[in-house]
Amino acid sequence: MKGQGRKIAVLTAYDYPTARLLDEAGVDVILVGDSLSMVVQGRETTLPVTLEEMVYHAEIVGRAVQRALVVVDLPFPTAYVGVHKAVEAAARILKAARCQAVKLEGGAEQAEVIAALVSAGIPVMGHVGLRPQNVHQMGGYKVQRDEQRLKQDARCAEQAGAFGLVLECVPAPLAAEITQTLGIPTIGIGAGPECDGQVLVIHDLLGVTQDPMPRFVKKYANLHEVVSQAVRQYCDEVRTGVFPASQHAFK
Ligand code: KIV
Repeated sequence: MKGQGRKIAVLTAYDYPTARLLDEAGVDVILVGDSLSMVVQGRETTLPVTLEEMVYHAEIVGRAVQRALVVVDLPFPTAYVGVHKAVEAAARILKAARCQAVKLEGGAEQAEVIAALVSAGIPVMGHVGLRPQNVHQMGGYKVQRDEQRLKQDARCAEQAGAFGLVLECVPAPLAAEITQTLGIPTIGIGAGPECDGQVLVIHDLLGVTQDPMPRFVKKYANLHEVVSQAVRQYCDEVRTGVFPASQHAFK
């Protein structure tokens, strides 16, 4: 798609009905992100989610998808526990779920791990810029401006064999430059319009919560309002005896 100048649309999914909807709606890549820790499990960061939990959600999502590429995040601290454990963790996911690739946060420092996964036949998507698994070290969810480091991370991920690269919270001009220099596609989140593709968390795009959103999110729907209204009406109709009506009952 990069070669043809076609932009790549990526969204996260964590469950069967959502993954099926996204697949049927034509999304190119479905990411079972470790963001499930925050958006599904209600935790403050992505750090607590376990390999077992990622496998569980990957298996569910993989069952729903017929067409899109399914990529699954390797949870913290897989990128830091040595190549053998990383290969084992990724293999565990690929054995259990109908998915085709894993995503690993990191660049230059994780090159050895990326290369080991690739040599084991496991396609790897890298993830540089803001790395939420390192949020405490990075001092929060901030735009990353260390140009030399970002370029080096991107280059190393590609050289190690990554087939694609997420760029998170990177200034748009720098993301554009990295995108031009790499042969592999870049997938931006808060990295401007010149990336080869874009990724968003599905709950953010659908407006599931009313929590404040980062600047890079565009809300395409207000599901919070739609669902609240439907549930309020249901409660009201149960309490007033409007539901169930005769057509909802058996004779
Ligand atoms: O976990 C996730 O959802 C992600 C994307 C937002 C890139 O890593």
